[in-house]
Amino acid sequence: MNITTMLVALGSLAALAAGGWAWRKWAPRSFWYAVEFPAKAALVYLTWTHIASGCGLSRKRRRWRFALDAIPLAGPAVMVQRRRLRSVEIEKPPRLRLLRPTPLGWRVWVRLHDGQLPEDYANVADRLAHAWRVHAVRVVAFKPGRVQLLATMRDPLTVVDVSPETGELLTVRPGMLENGEPWVMDFRTVPHWLNAGATQSGKSNLANAILKGLAPQPVALVGFDLKGGVEFTPYAPRLSALATTRGECVRLLDDLVQVVTDRMALCRKEGARNIWRLPDGLRPMPIVVLVDEVAELFLMADKSEKEEVSKTATALLRVAQLGRAFGIYLVVCGQRIGSDLGPGVTALRSQLSGRICHRVNDPETANMTLGDMDPAALDAARGIAAETPGVAVIAGQDGSWHRARSVYVSEEEAEAAARRFAHLTPAWSVLTSGPTAAEPIAA
Ligand SMILES: Nc1ncnc2c1ncn2[C@@H]1O[C@H](COP(=O)(O)OP(=O)(O)O)[C@@H](O)[C@H]1O
Ligand SMILES: [Mg+2]
Repeated sequence: MNITTMLVALGSLAALAAGGWAWRKWAPRSFWYAVEFPAKAALVYLTWTHIASGCGLSRKRRRWRFALDAIPLAGPAVMVQRRRLRSVEIEKPPRLRLLRPTPLGWRVWVRLHDGQLPEDYANVADRLAHAWRVHAVRVVAFKPGRVQLLATMRDPLTVVDVSPETGELLTVRPGMLENGEPWVMDFRTVPHWLNAGATQSGKSNLANAILKGLAPQPVALVGFDLKGGVEFTPYAPRLSALATTRGECVRLLDDLVQVVTDRMALCRKEGARNIWRLPDGLRPMPIVVLVDEVAELFLMADKSEKEEVSKTATALLRVAQLGRAFGIYLVVCGQRIGSDLGPGVTALRSQLSGRICHRVNDPETANMTLGDMDPAALDAARGIAAETPGVAVIAGQDGSWHRARSVYVSEEEAEAAARRFAHLTPAWSVLTSGPTAAEPIAA
């Protein structure tokens, strides 16, 4: 090879490397799909037997193989080689199906060996993540005999940039899930939510995001804020009612129970199971109730408040029980919501089927919030770092769970949304003055 060819070859290599670098820098998405992912996928398939065995996922199988044997013929001096069938033990990895790229990694179905459970894969997820050199591997789905693994190259929750407004009634997008998809809360599917976490874990930020997402919609918003109203007063222009003292709480809950009762009567009269079955002209406006620190509703300064507290508990429970059918939805925030707060709290908690667990101080709070979920969900909740406020484990009714992070919505931003859409705020007197008087809305 003469010097010119060598220089040309080196030059082309350098140009290729520079081109690749620029492609990756300026169009990382297409670079991932066209170059990085195929390379990564090839590596995953090539090393799978080795990695599955290292993670203890393989099974030993006996197989018949032809082997060359040296057979002595008329004494050791003369040996002949002959092909012979022999049983040998081989490691068989579980079958890896087609790797499908996602914006941040890939998902893949794996066939379980007989006797294996999805947990066997969840237990070795960290080992797989190390072996594949990725940020995390999670079991995200399973069907009989198969599990789906999701590998993510980096934590998608370090920067969350989504908009809470969805344009769909009673649906908000308060953040992002770990799989890179938007986190969507649909109150018509999961009507009531428990939003738990230690102080500074991101509960109020999530409430801000929900408020910002609901503000442009034809829904009424109601706030309970017994910490002197410091949290919700700035959002008053978009709130149809706000209770900041115990007396106001009791009155507002009485009103809500009355609204439920009126709506129930209206539905009965019209032969509808719920407000969504009512004709358009009759359907009352949905109401979303935000409760800032639920413990404040249940704590008593002295004995004299006992009756009020028990009234509050009963009313809140009644609203939760009937709310789904009659268009009243709850978002209950709190540091913990356990039986130590008093009777009725456990019953209320069981009505809040949507669960959001931010960082917590003690393991019981995670247990309490996530209930008897998958132990991996509890581990994920306990592992949330203080440096990442807004990160939470969320669980719906179907038993599936996700790590997610809310989008940062400052108080100023939420306040601005409340002012901007103040004209959509129905007066509380209109909402409470009987079923037909309430402003009708389209589904
Ligand atoms: N999703 C988020 N992204 C970035 N920062 C957040 C997020 N959620 C909360 N924070 C920050 O964490 C701090 C505490 O959040 P906050 O919602 O007030 O917690 P809590 O109500 O649980 O006490 C806030 O000052 C905010 O700056
Ligand atoms: Mg708060």
